[in-house]
Amino acid sequence: MPDEPLVLGIETSCDETGVGVVRGTTLLADAVASSVDEHARFGGVVPEVASRAHLEAMVPTIDRALKEAGVSARDLDGISVTAGPGLAGALLVGVSAAKAYAYALGKPLYGVNHLASHICVDQLEHGPLPEPTMALLVSGGHSSLLLSSDITSDVRPMGATIDDAAGEAFDKIARVLNLGFPGGPVIDRYAREGDPDAIAFPRGLTGPRDPAYDFSFSGLKTAVARWIEAKRAAGEEVPVRDVSASFQEAVVDVLTRKAVRACKDEGVDHLMIGGGVAANSRLRALAQERCEAAGIRLRVPRPKLCTDNGAMVAALGAEMVARNRAASDWDLSADSSLPVTEPHVPGQGHGHSHAHDHVHEVSKENLYS
Ligand code: KG4
Ligand code: ZN
Repeated sequence: MPDEPLVLGIETSCDETGVGVVRGTTLLADAVASSVDEHARFGGVVPEVASRAHLEAMVPTIDRALKEAGVSARDLDGISVTAGPGLAGALLVGVSAAKAYAYALGKPLYGVNHLASHICVDQLEHGPLPEPTMALLVSGGHSSLLLSSDITSDVRPMGATIDDAAGEAFDKIARVLNLGFPGGPVIDRYAREGDPDAIAFPRGLTGPRDPAYDFSFSGLKTAVARWIEAKRAAGEEVPVRDVSASFQEAVVDVLTRKAVRACKDEGVDHLMIGGGVAANSRLRALAQERCEAAGIRLRVPRPKLCTDNGAMVAALGAEMVARNRAASDWDLSADSSLPVTEPHVPGQGHGHSHAHDHVHEVSKENLYS
C-alpha cells in the first residue's frame, strides 16, 4: 500500500454533489455542484429535487474533479463515498455512482460516515489530526460533540442536540426574518453590523442540572420568533441586525462554552470545529478566544471545507486506505441513519477481490484510455 493513497471521494448526503480528490492529507481537487438554488423557494432542501440534481451532476462533477486534480481514474487507490447519515435517496445516488466507478475501475470501495468526514477534512488544512481530538460538529442536520482517538475507528459521542441542529436554527430564524435560504451566511453578515447584547435571548440547556454536553436550540428559536412577532404586532420595525447578532451570540456562546468544557473535562487539548456552521465568523472568533484562554489548540478548516464537500469524504477514504481498514462490500447500501460511532462500513472480506480481478481487463482500457 502506498504511503500517500490517492483517493476520490463522493458526497451526496444533502444538496451538494461533492467530488474531491486527495493524496494522503493533500487536497488535489474539490469540485462541488450545489442544488441549493432549486430549494430556496421551498425554504429547505426537498429530497426528491436533491436526488435528481445529484443524478444530473454526478458524472460531470467526477470528471471535473479528476481534471482539476490532474490525475487519471486508473491511478486511484480507492473510491470513498458517504454511506450515511443523510437523505436516503440522495445518498443512494452517490453510493451507486461510487460502486459503478469502483467496480468498473477495479478499485476498492469505502463507504464512510458523513460526520467523521466533516472531522477528517481538517487534515487537508492542518495536517494529521491529533489523537485524541474533540470535535464540535455543527451543520444543518447535526450538532454534536465527538471525541475521537482515531478517526477511522473510534468516534465517541459526548453530546448532541436534543431538538434542532444549530444550522437548522439559523435557517429557521432567517426564514422568520425573510432573509432567504440558507440562513447561516446571511445572518452572519447582518450580525456583523448588529449588537450581540441588544436582546438577551435564552441559552438552552445551560442550567446547573442540565446535561453538560447536550444542546437545545428550539427554545431559542421560539424566543426569537416571538420577539420578532411582538415587534411586528406593535407596528415597530424589526431591527434585523441586532436580532441576528443577538441570536447568533446565543448559539455560539453555548456551542463554544460546552465544547471547551468537554475538552477540559476529558483532558483533551485540541478542539476541531466542522460542519457548515463552522463557517460562521463569530463562532470562529469566539472559539479562538475561549480556546486560547483555556490553553486549547483550535483547528477550524477554511469555510469551503466546512460545508458539505467531496474532499472531506476523500480525506477519510485516504485515511482508511492508509490505515489498512477493510474496504466495503459491493452490496454496500446507503444508511440514512448510519450511527456516528461507525466511521465506515467495512465489508465481510468476500466478493471484493473477485470483482476486482474480473473487471480489471474489461474496464480500464475501455473506460479510461
Ligand atoms: O454541513 P452543511 O453544509 O450541510 C449539512 O450537513 O447540514 O451545513 C449547512 C448548514 C446550513 O444550516 C447553513 O445555514 C449553515 O450550515 N451555515 C452557516 C454559515 N454557513 C453555512 N451557519 C452560520 N453561519 C454561517 N456563516
Ligand atoms: Zn454536512
